[in-house]
Amino acid sequence: MIITEYAAKDFRNMSDVRFNPDGRTNILFGENGQGKTNIIESIWLFTGCHSFRTHKYQEMIKTGRKEAGVKLFYDTQELQNEASLRISSTKREFVLNGIQKDSPRRFLGEFRSVVFSPYSLSVIQNAPVERRRFLDIAVSMIKPAYVSHLIKYSKILANRNALLKQIAQGAADEDTLTAWDEELAKTGAKITLYRLSYVDNLAHVASEIYREISGGREQLKLEYLQSSRSDAVDEYEMTENIFMALQKNRNSDIRRLVTSIGPHKDDLSIQLDGMSSRSFASQGQQRSCALSLKLGEAYIIKNVSGEYPVVLLDDVMSELDRQRQGFLMEYLKDWQVFITCCDAGHFSKLQSCKIFRVENGTVTEV
Ligand SMILES: Nc1ncnc2c1ncn2[C@@H]1O[C@H](COP(=O)(O)OP(=O)(O)OP(=O)(O)O)[C@@H](O)[C@H]1O
Ligand SMILES: [Mg+2]
Repeated sequence: MIITEYAAKDFRNMSDVRFNPDGRTNILFGENGQGKTNIIESIWLFTGCHSFRTHKYQEMIKTGRKEAGVKLFYDTQELQNEASLRISSTKREFVLNGIQKDSPRRFLGEFRSVVFSPYSLSVIQNAPVERRRFLDIAVSMIKPAYVSHLIKYSKILANRNALLKQIAQGAADEDTLTAWDEELAKTGAKITLYRLSYVDNLAHVASEIYREISGGREQLKLEYLQSSRSDAVDEYEMTENIFMALQKNRNSDIRRLVTSIGPHKDDLSIQLDGMSSRSFASQGQQRSCALSLKLGEAYIIKNVSGEYPVVLLDDVMSELDRQRQGFLMEYLKDWQVFITCCDAGHFSKLQSCKIFRVENGTVTEV
């Protein structure tokens, strides 16, 4: 997957930007607040996922304008594609090769990309919801149908939680929960199995990458932690186990008015040499963990789809030491990469590389 042309109109601080990226390395450099992340963000939106910065699309329209537009021409192995995105105050409109997609979700699996930015550290440092989000985005990038299970699940969960409140107030009978428990267990089992299979795959890839990044000093171990503590491997058994766990926790759920079992309560354990990376790892080790997860995600996309995803590295080079920077550049030498930084100096020696100066919402090749 290679972006051959990029254009943006009234997207954040960009009025009218157009450039032709290199098929490999692209350096976007400039001072703070000039628009580097804006470009990365606008490319990322073509994955069909929300921005990594905000869910408020209105913020992306240039101040004083009515709508924003971004266009990408990108090549896949079989096709030359033209994709455009229009954001107005009321809607987002995606068009791919002349066909309008009825929702951004329909873009999932069309344009594939992986972004690594300072926000990526939240996978290690923040609450389980960040790790579930990481897994959900990673899985939906290779299995777009997965998202429909997630949407269905969150509706069932909202209904079950509403019913818990009614039961606690004496407005509904406890038995009415059983039908929702069955539904939750059924869809929850599908989601859990998708995530388990993904983590199984990622655990191998990411620990190998971590070994190389760290020079073999520590070992990275990933494990999917299920709130239902099920050890089932097939869908029937998994559904049964989640259902049983829901039954077991029913009274406390009614007391606490929340559903305590299911994939919305699961977590991804990320350990270094058997210790939690969240509380024991140093800043540098945490960064290496997050980088290993992201590169692992990119590698899996490439393996499953046969296409190299576009790699977006926002503001991360300066945070890595020389050895890690070297590893990253070597690892990604066959990928199309967009790297933002304040100083392009040490990239000028690279072959097959274009360098762009980003200044006050404009982009100039140097
Ligand atoms: N809707 C908008 N309209 C106009 N300008 C905007 C809009 N949204 C953001 N900006 C401007 O875009 C700039 C931020 O751009 P961006 O985050 O891409 O900077 P950057 O080059 O990545 O900087 P840094 O090096 O600090 O990360 C800010 O100056 C901000 O005011
Ligand atoms: Mg930035």
